[in-house]
Order: sequence, then C-alpha cells, then structure tokens
Amino acid sequence: MEKINVGVIGAGSIGKIHLQAYTSIPDVRVSAVVDIIEDRARQAAESFGIPKYYTDYREMLEKEKLDAVSVCVPNYLHSPMTVDALNAGVNVICEKPMAINAKEAQKMVDAARANNKILMVALCWRFSDEAKTIKEFINQGYLGNIYYAKVGILRLSGIPGMGGWFTNKDKSGGGPLIDLAPHFLDLAMWFMNHPRPVSVKGYTYAKFGPLNKRKGNWGIPEPGGKFDVEDLGCAIIGLENGATIFVEMSWASNIERDTTYCTLFGDKGGAEMMPTKIFTEMAGKYVEIVPRIEKVNSYLEELKHFVQCIKDGTSPIPKGEEGVIDMQIIDAIYESARTGKEVRL
Ligand SMILES: NC(=O)c1ccc[n+]([C@@H]2O[C@H](COP(=O)([O-])OP(=O)(O)OC[C@H]3O[C@@H](n4cnc5c(N)ncnc54)[C@H](O)[C@@H]3O)[C@@H](O)[C@H]2O)c1
Repeated sequence: MEKINVGVIGAGSIGKIHLQAYTSIPDVRVSAVVDIIEDRARQAAESFGIPKYYTDYREMLEKEKLDAVSVCVPNYLHSPMTVDALNAGVNVICEKPMAINAKEAQKMVDAARANNKILMVALCWRFSDEAKTIKEFINQGYLGNIYYAKVGILRLSGIPGMGGWFTNKDKSGGGPLIDLAPHFLDLAMWFMNHPRPVSVKGYTYAKFGPLNKRKGNWGIPEPGGKFDVEDLGCAIIGLENGATIFVEMSWASNIERDTTYCTLFGDKGGAEMMPTKIFTEMAGKYVEIVPRIEKVNSYLEELKHFVQCIKDGTSPIPKGEEGVIDMQIIDAIYESARTGKEVRL
C-alpha cells in the first residue's frame, strides 16, 4: 500500500508530539500541518520537514488529498473539526477528551458511521505496557471479578495554561475532571470490560485557580484570562454489575507530591498500575507479583495502531462509542456536583 497521507490540526504541545511520532512511522507521510497562529504552523512545518502549512483546517481538507488527520486543538473544537474531517472522507484520531460533552461526542460517532470512516479517541495510556500487562492478567483470569476500582491523577501545582482555553469552561468543558479523567476512567472501564454506568455522585472544588496560583507546565497561559472551572473533582460511579469506580482528579492540591494511580480490587487478585504489581494468594501466603514492564512511547504506539487500522480497514481501540460513555459519566459528574444530587444514567 502507498503511504498514508496525514494532516495534523493544532501545532501546540500535543500536536508536536503527534508530528514527532508520525515522522518515525515509515508508512506515513505528513502532508500538512494547521495552526490558527501562522507562525506556529510555519515553525512546525519547518522543524518536521512538512511540505505545506495552513491556518484554516477547512482549506487543508479541500486542497490536500488526506487519508487521516490528528485533531490536536482545544477541546471545544474537537467535535466540529472531527465531524468536518469525517464528512470530507478523512479518518480521524482526536485527542482526549473526546469532546466538551457527550452530545458533541455522539455527533462524532454518527459522522464516522455515516461516512464509513475510522474515528479513534487518542487515549495513549491504553498503549502503555503497564496497562497492557494488567489487561493480560485480567484476561487470563488472575484478578477474577473486579468489583472496585480507584483511579486518580493528583497534582500539587499543575494548572495548565492559566487564563487560556484550559481554564475557560466554554472552551475546555471543565477542569481536571474533563482534562485528566478521560485517561484513567477509560482504563478502569476497559479493565472492567465496560459495564454500563448507572449512577454518579460527583463533587468539584476551585481553591487555587481563582487565586491565580499553582500554574503548571502544559498549555499556554494568558495573563488576566478566565478561570471558571474546578481545580479538583471527585466522584463515585455505580455500574450495572454492582461494581464501583472512585475517581479523583486535581490540577492543584496541598499534597506531598504528584500522584498517579489506578488500583483494581478483584475477588481473585488485585492490581496497582504505577508501579505495576499484582496482589493475590498463593500457597497460603499473600504474594506480590511484579511484572517486568517495558518502557514504550505510548503516543507512538497509539498512532501506529491508528495507521494500521486505516491500512487494514479494522476498528480502532479505543472505539468512539466507548469515548461517548466516558463523556456521559463526566457530564453526570458535573451535573451531580452542580445540583448536589446523585445522577441516574
Ligand atoms: N493525550 C495526552 O496526553 C494529551 C496531552 C496534552 C494535551 N492533550 C489534548 O490535546 C488538545 C490540545 O492540547 P495542547 O496542550 O496541545 O494545547 P495547546 O494550547 O498547546 O495547543 C493547541 C493548539 O491549537 C491551536 N488552535 C486553536 N484553535 C485553532 C483552530 N481553530 N485551528 C487550528 N489550530 C487552532 C492553537 O493555536 C494551539 O497551537 C487538548 O484537547 C488536550 O486535552 C492530550
């Protein structure tokens, strides 16, 4: 097969990671890059040796013969740009969160179906050796029935792009819950084989952002800009099989150090992901199994998978439909936090 022609929309932090990864996949030719800021588009084109750059993604879709695009722009643009690309007959990998809410995410799935094109949500953690190893232990029955999962990404000082799109609810959809939960909520749901969510009770807090404190490294700050999102959110999610997921995500908190965890409680075994360990009983003893984990570039593995799906005409992992369910949960967390009531799904 000929090379897959790719365009990257958005030449910010993650756009450059996509560009870097694509340039190391032999079956890919990056034909063009887009950024609304011309300098950024031009610089990205120069640094990665890309023949064309644009400031309008629609112009790129019209002029280039693309097989695929990466959507790497602020959250509120994910759904409209993805739908436009799919309608133009182009396969899409869209960065997380899939959209700013489930309704927008559903439009993306509908457009993929209507145009018979691939829609993949960029959830790079699925491609980490840590997650793949735990999934294999689960598939081989070592954990038994997983009835409880706890996931969290807690930062001491990590508010991205203070005052820019990240902290503006209209553009981001929310704070750390929508920014960080898609990664680990997705993992918990995947490890548990996607039981249907039935209830959500959520809470949100904004203690540091409104004081212009605890800025992080991601994103581009805009001094004097808005902060109208949470800086910590947590929730308890009930699933139809009786299992529960606890999720906590923060950009800023008074804790000892940044903490990222995914803990699974199964009736035959348990698991921790960071670092990866399996806990069970053997020969009358409680034991800890420590698998040897390979360091992989999960962004690269994710994009290789996307390219392979295009070449083979197969469905990607993770699927758009799974992304919609994650977005329904996130919508319900925000609604519950706003109303103070449990949301039934
Ligand atoms: N998978 C991950 O680990 C990961 C990590 C970081 C960010 N992300 C996601 O990637 C997306 C982008 O985040 P980022 O950190 O790169 O943000 P960023 O602000 O660094 O980059 C966004 C880029 O999009 C450009 N842009 C804005 N509007 C545009 C338009 N209409 N047309 C073309 N370009 C436009 C901006 O000029 C900017 O260069 C977000 O949805 C974020 O959640 C994912």
